[in-house]
Amino acid sequence: MSQTKLGVCYYPEQWPPALWASDAAGMRELGIGYVRIGEFAWSRIEPSSGRFDWAWLDTAVETLADAGLEIIFGTPTACPPHWLIKQYPEILPVGPDGRVRGFGSRRHYSFSSERYAAESARITEAVVRRYGKHPNIVGWQLDNEYGCHDTTLCYSDGALQAFRRWLARRYASIDALNQAWGNVFWSQEYARFDDVGLPLAVTETNPSHRLAFWRFSSEQVCAFNDAQASIIRKHCHESAFLTHNFMGNFVDFDHFKVMRTLDVASWDSYPLGFLDQAWFSEGDKQRYRRTGHPDWAAFHHDLYRAVGDGRFAVMEQQPGAVNWAAHNAEPLAGMVRLWSWEAIAHGAEFVSWFRWRQAPFAQEQMHAGLRRPDNQPAIASAEVQALSRELERLELPDVTPASVALVFDYAACWGIAVQPQQASYSTLATAMAWYSAARGLGLDVDIVAPGSSLEGYALVLLPCQPNVDAKLLEQLKASSAQMVFGPRAGSKTEELTISDQLAPGPLQAFINLQIISVDAVRDGVTIAVQGGDASRFVQRWVEHVQTELAPSLSTADGRGIVYRQQHCTYIGAELSPALLQDHLAASAHAGGLSTTVLPDAVRLRRRGSLTFAFNYSDAPQSVAPDGQFLVGAATLPSAGVSIWRHG
Ligand code: GAL
Repeated sequence: MSQTKLGVCYYPEQWPPALWASDAAGMRELGIGYVRIGEFAWSRIEPSSGRFDWAWLDTAVETLADAGLEIIFGTPTACPPHWLIKQYPEILPVGPDGRVRGFGSRRHYSFSSERYAAESARITEAVVRRYGKHPNIVGWQLDNEYGCHDTTLCYSDGALQAFRRWLARRYASIDALNQAWGNVFWSQEYARFDDVGLPLAVTETNPSHRLAFWRFSSEQVCAFNDAQASIIRKHCHESAFLTHNFMGNFVDFDHFKVMRTLDVASWDSYPLGFLDQAWFSEGDKQRYRRTGHPDWAAFHHDLYRAVGDGRFAVMEQQPGAVNWAAHNAEPLAGMVRLWSWEAIAHGAEFVSWFRWRQAPFAQEQMHAGLRRPDNQPAIASAEVQALSRELERLELPDVTPASVALVFDYAACWGIAVQPQQASYSTLATAMAWYSAARGLGLDVDIVAPGSSLEGYALVLLPCQPNVDAKLLEQLKASSAQMVFGPRAGSKTEELTISDQLAPGPLQAFINLQIISVDAVRDGVTIAVQGGDASRFVQRWVEHVQTELAPSLSTADGRGIVYRQQHCTYIGAELSPALLQDHLAASAHAGGLSTTVLPDAVRLRRRGSLTFAFNYSDAPQSVAPDGQFLVGAATLPSAGVSIWRHG
């Protein structure tokens, strides 16, 4: 049994000290136990070089602690203060256009700045030495949203120098690099590592070069994080957890690797902002504008549970309208409660809202909080209170593994972004489409890192896995699950060159076919399939498959696109959602799993002995429970949640 805590993000430095005690009391009244502070407060902690002002922060920490709150302390490195930038302008990041990205917002530092590494070590050590042993500080958040605002890749001179050193370590000799990247092409050969530049040139640079730069940039984030983690561990309680708040729809660095030195993977869940901003169709954007897409938050919960190796949380939950999307809708009444319950259903250790009170000033003045700028409770606050009462009455069982595993690989995201071949092809969007199809069948899905164990799964999905390395291949061979390989699987080497045996490369050990060419289809064009209907077609990507096997699905003009051999299925095209669901259902059934047809926009999630149902549609929907209701009933209103103990 584990209990989820509720939390909130709070910025004492933004409010008069006279409000702190009543704010803390107000949090407690809502059932909030965690408060995150500190992550943007460097200019108040150290107003000028080496001059620390702890008095206000000591008081803030004591005020929150006195109210019985436990504190997650954010290290303030996402916002280097102006005096520091003035002193060391080389800290600033440089964009791909070669321009320095200046002071005046946040995340204005380069992960490759040695000066910034030293300054971050200094401020973090000062903060953690002062508060690390405070009994109410239970967790540390390192920095804030690494990579946000396109800051993973930096084109500074510091990055160039570090990239060259990284290349020398990775390839050992320049000949090996030339060979690996195929630099004989267009006379791109280098004589020494110091000749290699950042991937910016007259036209497209070598995809292997770009992927190497992305890999390097990801490792710079890990190095920054690891150094910070080791400083914090030296001075904090042994029992404190270390976390970072990752983002939604964000894949610019390898989150699995960043987590190697942290304990809990937390993430920032803004279902409406990301619906508006992301790849979803105009129809979905209109339909779900006040609820968010029914699989979006769930996908990220499952992804971050994998990233955290079982331990994840929501550090920032959307409490009302945000300010940063093109159209900032207000959540439908009930959604703040629903999103929070959904995080709990997926195993979140805590759910924390961003933010306590809406700020009447600066960039985020149009971003809602749990309180309005006039300090009255905002709409969401009643939903938080309702949730906290319901939660008190419910014992939460441990999270049980799902029967379906979906392999998700950050390097695959970079590879496709570097060389999409079809401009809108995206590893993340493809993974989410497969996740959605499986979940729409009532299945629970675990997301897994490539190369992790597949033991116990009945169905394994590889939606977009161009590079199948030895570790992944070994796990696939060790598994007797039904496997479904999506288009582009096994098509590339680790260096983003074409696999020797052509696609699906090493997966030909499972299924006897070869991809000999590809038709990358314009967005909006649909291709009919045999036996298809208005919702069953293919789009975006159609492979030309050469094989002796008989197809299970062909295009209307007779090209085979889905093949099956023993327990493996290869899908050589992007299938429309309904068609994908048909084929995943067939593999699920072959694996002994039963599927259901869920009511419109209803999703289920099991956690131990509990089943949670969520209604994302704008009309009431009914579910057929197999047990006793603990929350809600068989008919869920729009934005409703029902929970029952299954039989
Ligand atoms: C997150 C960030 C917060 C705040 C929030 C607004 O990306 O971590 O500091 O900016 O978005 O939605």
